[in-house]
Amino acid sequence: MRSRHFVVALTGASGALYGLRLCSELLRSGVRLTVMISSAGQQVLAEECGFDWQGSEDAVASLLREYFQAGEEQLSFYGEDNLLAPVASGSNAPDAMVICPCSMGTLARIAAGNSGNLLERCADVMLKERRTLVMVPRETPLSEIHLENMLKLARMGVRMIPAMPAFYHGPQSIDDLVSFVVGKVLDALDIEHALFRRWGDTLVRGEG
Ligand SMILES: Cc1cc2nc3c(=O)[nH]c(=O)nc-3n(C[C@H](O)[C@H](O)[C@H](O)COP(=O)(O)O)c2cc1C
Repeated sequence: MRSRHFVVALTGASGALYGLRLCSELLRSGVRLTVMISSAGQQVLAEECGFDWQGSEDAVASLLREYFQAGEEQLSFYGEDNLLAPVASGSNAPDAMVICPCSMGTLARIAAGNSGNLLERCADVMLKERRTLVMVPRETPLSEIHLENMLKLARMGVRMIPAMPAFYHGPQSIDDLVSFVVGKVLDALDIEHALFRRWGDTLVRGEG
């Protein structure tokens, strides 16, 4: 049976750590993963995580495979300008796409059907093919335009999972806060995980 194929797109919203952690967890679950990073996303990765993941597609692909300890068969990378990438076509749509973190700019362009780069085109494909599309928007405060765009997309079936960690699971670190949001994304993708303690459960990661 062919393994499921997921796309994770990191854009220029704050919260690059969410996207990186999501990629790790998806790779750990055994799915085939395609990563895309917008040029603003590359800047945020540099600012927030100190990663200089720029250069040719092959160079960035190698850096990602080294960082995630993943092989060529499991992890691919396409630059935002590569509109010839397989995922740009509905005939090769992935099983699911997650935009994490998702900037208000990318969200607005997708809501308007105005695909200017590969990330937005892939999201457009997911919408027209009625595939699973998850967005992890991050901005505060939210304007009426942001809220209207989110509502429009949610009504089209997009799973809107804002980067809003909860505190009822007793987080002790930034990692715990990141785990909560990433765990919510994995729930939406129907992927089992133990990234946070569910309300009413006593089991925590590393126990039992
Ligand atoms: C350090 C940094 C943090 C940013 N945080 C956000 C954010 O949280 N949300 C957002 O919508 N834009 C944020 N921006 C602005 C976006 O990066 C900018 O609008 C960019 O054009 C988005 O491009 P993209 O959608 O192609 O990734 C941030 C920019 C920088 C440099």
